[in-house]
Amino acid sequence: MSQEVTLAPVSTSVLSDRILTMQESQTIAMAKKSRELAAQGVDVINLSFGEPDFQTPQYIKDAAKAALDEGYTFYTPVPGYPELRQAICDKLKRDNNLDYKNENIVVSTGAKQSLANAVLSLVNPGDEVIVFAPYWVSYTEIVKLAEGVVVELVGSIENDFKVTAAELEAAITPRTKLIMYSSPCNPTGSVFSRDDLAAIADVVARHEQVHVLADEIYEYINFVGDHASIAQFSDIKDRVITVNGFSKGYAMTGWRVGYIAAHKDIASACEKIQSQITSGTCSIAQRAALAALKGGRASADEMVEAYHRRRDLVLEMAKEIPGLRTPTPSGAFYVFPDVSSFFGKTAPDGQVIENAYDLALFILRDAHVSCVDGRAFGAPNCIRFSTAAADEKLRDAFTRIKKSLATLV
Ligand SMILES: Cc1ncc(COP(=O)(O)O)c(C=O)c1O
Repeated sequence: MSQEVTLAPVSTSVLSDRILTMQESQTIAMAKKSRELAAQGVDVINLSFGEPDFQTPQYIKDAAKAALDEGYTFYTPVPGYPELRQAICDKLKRDNNLDYKNENIVVSTGAKQSLANAVLSLVNPGDEVIVFAPYWVSYTEIVKLAEGVVVELVGSIENDFKVTAAELEAAITPRTKLIMYSSPCNPTGSVFSRDDLAAIADVVARHEQVHVLADEIYEYINFVGDHASIAQFSDIKDRVITVNGFSKGYAMTGWRVGYIAAHKDIASACEKIQSQITSGTCSIAQRAALAALKGGRASADEMVEAYHRRRDLVLEMAKEIPGLRTPTPSGAFYVFPDVSSFFGKTAPDGQVIENAYDLALFILRDAHVSCVDGRAFGAPNCIRFSTAAADEKLRDAFTRIKKSLATLV
């Protein structure tokens, strides 16, 4: 018979400063609130998650089933199976015209781990890390974990939220070790063109101590044409760590496979950290990822068609909502309107909307649509809606939002 044991509550004083200063992920917190409401029987439309609503393509699932039958159940090499790393090199050549060997590739348990490995490998306590804002929520927390100093560099809405080379030049100091960004960007959907990156690469080339962590996880979800990688600029290639993965392009969020491509010394450092923390990524997920790459881009292209259509649908509906200022995203699956025109207004229940968080809560309470406010992305005037939902859901959501926002006075 099991014995019930009552554990004394853990006092926060026993926890490390590292954990006490870390923010809980806002995207996960909002999703939790919307689940609570849904559990009470409310019909909530969840647009807070950064997750494709598609199933993983069948040929990838079949490869995972085969992996089990073929006996892929043992520990895997820490940086990933050699066949998978070779397939990643082939992809980088095919899609990005980048030459890498297996020694440059480290496969990890999601691109999130790849980012953490890279930051922990490069950043010493006190080093400055320039994070282009708006940014993906985990960047700043990972830098803090490495005891780096976060320097937020905000791209203006007039420039499609993109940081310019001149702004970067002005922000670099002798302590700057790394710059971090995503393109296509979560949360804004903006995409750096080859010319934008050429100008940024010129700045980086002038500062020998500066490295670039280029997060290209949304590479395939691009509505404006060719994807450009900053590692393509050969004079800084050895200082660029390109991060990519399978979660978004192949709808494989739950499988947890990401990777870096980098100079072999940096790749070895990432491997060393990973060897002490998680070891190699799940054997079955790696075999599935290998099949995904061998299948090329066709399944991703089908999903992108849907994301493109949904983006247009949402933009059209958002345009009809007075007070939302919604730039056109060039990629990823989000819209990121500026909502500051609602600050200071009052809801029918008397609540004053002081900021984007209040507005996000009002939209959840009144329209039953969940979204994420921009504070966690370094953009306190904005809120993020995911467009990775069925067309009818998006139509319904934006009809409800329009009706609710019209009640604010
Ligand atoms: C910009 C960005 N980078 C990295 C990740 C993490 O991806 P993964 O699921 O591979 O860990 C996400 C996931 O939302 C993301 O939006």
